[in-house]
Amino acid sequence: PNLPPMLPGGLPFVGHAAELRSNPVAMVQRGRDMFGDIFCVRLPGTLGVVMTGHAAQEKYFRFRDDEVSQREAYQLMTPVFGKGIAYDAEPQIMKEQLGFFHGALRESRLRTYTDGFIAESEHFFGQWGDTGEVNMLEVGNEVTLYTSTRCLLGDKMRFKLSREFSELYADLEGGINVISFFAPYLPLPAMRRRDKARVKMVELIEKIVAERRLDPEGHEDILQTLVESSYADGRKLTVDEITGLILTIMFAGHHTSGVTFSWIAVLLAQHPHIFRRLVAEQREILGDRERITYDDLQKMKLLEGTIKEALRLYPPIILVMRRVLKAFEFQGKHVPEGSMIIASPAVGHRVPDVFPEPHRFDPDRYLAGREEDKRWPYGHIAFGAGRHRCMGIVFAQLQLRALWSHLLRNFELDMLDPSYPVDYTNLIAGPRPPCRIRYRRIAK
Ligand code: HEM
Repeated sequence: PNLPPMLPGGLPFVGHAAELRSNPVAMVQRGRDMFGDIFCVRLPGTLGVVMTGHAAQEKYFRFRDDEVSQREAYQLMTPVFGKGIAYDAEPQIMKEQLGFFHGALRESRLRTYTDGFIAESEHFFGQWGDTGEVNMLEVGNEVTLYTSTRCLLGDKMRFKLSREFSELYADLEGGINVISFFAPYLPLPAMRRRDKARVKMVELIEKIVAERRLDPEGHEDILQTLVESSYADGRKLTVDEITGLILTIMFAGHHTSGVTFSWIAVLLAQHPHIFRRLVAEQREILGDRERITYDDLQKMKLLEGTIKEALRLYPPIILVMRRVLKAFEFQGKHVPEGSMIIASPAVGHRVPDVFPEPHRFDPDRYLAGREEDKRWPYGHIAFGAGRHRCMGIVFAQLQLRALWSHLLRNFELDMLDPSYPVDYTNLIAGPRPPCRIRYRRIAK
């Protein structure tokens, strides 16, 4: 059969895995420049097929679950989420589990979470001095850890629990790395710490669930939705499953939002004229009011465009993967069963016929009259697309708008480093530390 062309380079046995690890985006871009929408790379033990450009991305994201599978691609998460949770569950069960998230992310809940985002912005940035230098990567990850804890476990737990929770969570994260991608159960210290942390996390959630059963009223958080949910056959979730799903949503939503927060800081420090326009938008919507509401956030169109544009230039998830269950053809090329197909938001977002002048930071692209993200429905894929598109899009937008609304109204930012390169050594790509930014509180 007529396989897609093979990218030159790569090593015996491991193929292109080393390059995929050190600079995946440069590798995918090199292949696209040479061959266009579809080409092959050699991965350990399997053929990788990279698909970029709006036509290839449309093909990619329209597959059904019986045609391609995410399960093998994301099995490195199984030791954290747990057996039988999310990608490790049978497709029907995974669908039901994702359905519980739908309940936890419905609009009435989003309003409650937004109150938490607003309260956290005031609390967290209220502790900043008049001026200071911060590592914006750390700031993003810390503030979103607190907002996440509020949404998952409630506002009370934000103060009671965040230390214990964040330590366990850090150990769980330490067990997710490039090694675990190929060998998730090696007896390495990081993997042992990961497994111990998961046992403790179950104990911690078990305690909270027991308290909830005694005092079931008035809890508006993701944990409560899971406690009240049951599968289609009537079975309630076990504490192990509740913990696994809490970790699933935490891993999906925390660093992705955290690094986006920090990229916005970098982009706004680099583009002061956009910063000024965003401050003007805040004034227009709020007048002299200090406290913002859910409805105010809906009106912040330039801020919305800024978030979309940060996600276009710096998508936190640079690659997504699926295992091919049924061979298919694309542009006359044959993609065999068993191969791993790869799509890349980072490369796909910078294809000039999808987004003109693709390297330019231009939040106006999304505003009425232009709406460049609508031109190709599979062009902007920071949140994926199709049946497994991210469930946290609205959540992420509300959270980032609440945090940035506060900063825009209270601080000015300056760059401290000449450039802010992307760090590809993490699974979620953020700015490379130290990512230093100076803030100054605006006199009122
Ligand atoms: C799926 C990105 C925030 C929950 C995805 C996917 C991407 C993504 C690319 C698709 C993966 C694939 O196709 O293989 C992001 C980004 C975020 C973000 C860039 C922040 C800026 C969130 C938040 C939540 C969340 C805040 C929850 C509150 C999920 C879930 C899925 C998902 C549950 C799986 C959906 C499915 O498989 O049907 N996300 N995400 N994400 N995301 Fe997000």
